[in-house]
Amino acid sequence: MSAQNYAQRMTVPQITARKGGEPIVCLTAYDAPTAAILDEHCDLILVGDSVGMVVHGLTSTVGVTLDMMILHGQAVMRGSNKALVVVDLPFGSYEDSPITAFKNASRVMMETGCQAVKIESGSYAAETIGYLTERGIPVMSHVGLRPQSMNVLGGFRARGRSKDVADEIIQNAIAAAKAGSFCVVVEGVSVELADEVTKAISIPTIGIGASENCDGQILVTPDMLGLFERTPKFVKKFANLNGLIEDAAQNYAMEVKERTFPSRDYTYNFSKK
Ligand code: KIV
Repeated sequence: MSAQNYAQRMTVPQITARKGGEPIVCLTAYDAPTAAILDEHCDLILVGDSVGMVVHGLTSTVGVTLDMMILHGQAVMRGSNKALVVVDLPFGSYEDSPITAFKNASRVMMETGCQAVKIESGSYAAETIGYLTERGIPVMSHVGLRPQSMNVLGGFRARGRSKDVADEIIQNAIAAAKAGSFCVVVEGVSVELADEVTKAISIPTIGIGASENCDGQILVTPDMLGLFERTPKFVKKFANLNGLIEDAAQNYAMEVKERTFPSRDYTYNFSKK
């Protein structure tokens, strides 16, 4: 990565300064070619641990490893040069202590060149967020539906239906902001609760299944491209990649069987001298 490459990217303070301003456009990416396409249109690209489910076929994000995140983070950094790139810290890599979190987060930053990490922020997280931020690691927090806790929560249902849980989500967001997070993902909550969180903190909220009033929005890219038939309620499919791939594979199979592919346009047609 050249110094120039780094200088062109959106920065953490620029994202934080967008609180209450122009909406922050975010998407996930896991590979270089996709990152290159998204780069022009996104302020922030998240290398989410959703990679475990949408790329590796896992049933949750719990099985994602630090090595997987680093490999995908490196690819996304190679493909992009404008957006701020944030890499998710996977389950088990940051929860037990700020020191473990620093060891793993610094490895992610050094080996990928990304500019920040994301952690799912329960009540345990404030100390870690402060510890990382003071030591040069910007933190994006994640409250509401926290997919890494799906085994405690019993699945991926929207959160904050009771007053107690809603209050806990607001408190988690306030604690994450006070501790030094530069922005916070708010996932799978009611519009009303998302709006309360957005008003309660002075850093940007990035909604996913939340509210149009959040300071920015994020979706999992393969979901919004229509790669999967079943997606959560909050996913709008902006394309039908599933249908396009299906049609292409069907046409390819037909032409191979009919021996119409490869035609002479797609073969080397020289003779031996
Ligand atoms: O892993 C991920 O892609 C995420 C987004 C859904 C915010 O955390």
